[in-house]
Amino acid sequence: MAYFWVSLLVVLLVPTISADPDTLQDFCVADTSSSTIFMNGLPCINSSEASVEHFTTSILSTQGNTTGNPFGVSVTSTRAGVLPGINTLGIIMARVDFAVGAVLPPHTHPRASEIIFVLEGKLRVGFVDTTNKLFSADIKTGDVFVFPKALIHFVENMGNSPASVIAALNSQAPGNSVIPLATFASNPAIPSNVLAKSFQINDLEVQTIRKNLGGS
Ligand SMILES: *[C@@H]1O[C@H](CO)[C@@H](O)[C@H](O)[C@H]1NC(C)=O
Repeated sequence: MAYFWVSLLVVLLVPTISADPDTLQDFCVADTSSSTIFMNGLPCINSSEASVEHFTTSILSTQGNTTGNPFGVSVTSTRAGVLPGINTLGIIMARVDFAVGAVLPPHTHPRASEIIFVLEGKLRVGFVDTTNKLFSADIKTGDVFVFPKALIHFVENMGNSPASVIAALNSQAPGNSVIPLATFASNPAIPSNVLAKSFQINDLEVQTIRKNLGGS
């Protein structure tokens, strides 16, 4: 009887363990030119036209430009647009480069857990669980850290030189919601009184944060 309940529990849990849906074919090389079909993922090219080039990219071999945003961070990912062979496989890899003093602000990937490997540098990382408990660590070259699916997390460059990490996520489209931008720089804007009350600040402070983050 106990075995039955354990088996039932396992069966019930299985769907919640998986991330992206499983594939029905060996691969589905993305047809990046197609825009008339709207589906979950990208449509596939005819599999007889697939070649090894669809399954490789050098995009993570070079450092990203960290001067393009106020946070000093650059994210380069192996999305299906640059690595068509990743389509439907339920995984993605990214390279994140950090300038000196950079902060990757609190953000969440609603569809994936994330594991990072420090290529170079010293970083402070952390995530907050749904009871608002912070799990934070200082990590360095060669270390690994894992951020559980959907939880809010951040990374700060603690070193005196640029830093880089390689990240792997268990969705081809993890999604990225950056908390300061989603709240203060959404389009259209969240009403100021909502933000003022939510963050316990005044209207002028709302306008200042909006302006600093490039919101309207
Ligand atoms: C896929 O490619 C093969 C080989 O060129 C061809 O025989 C087949 O008709 C193609 N399928 C479709 C749906 O175009």
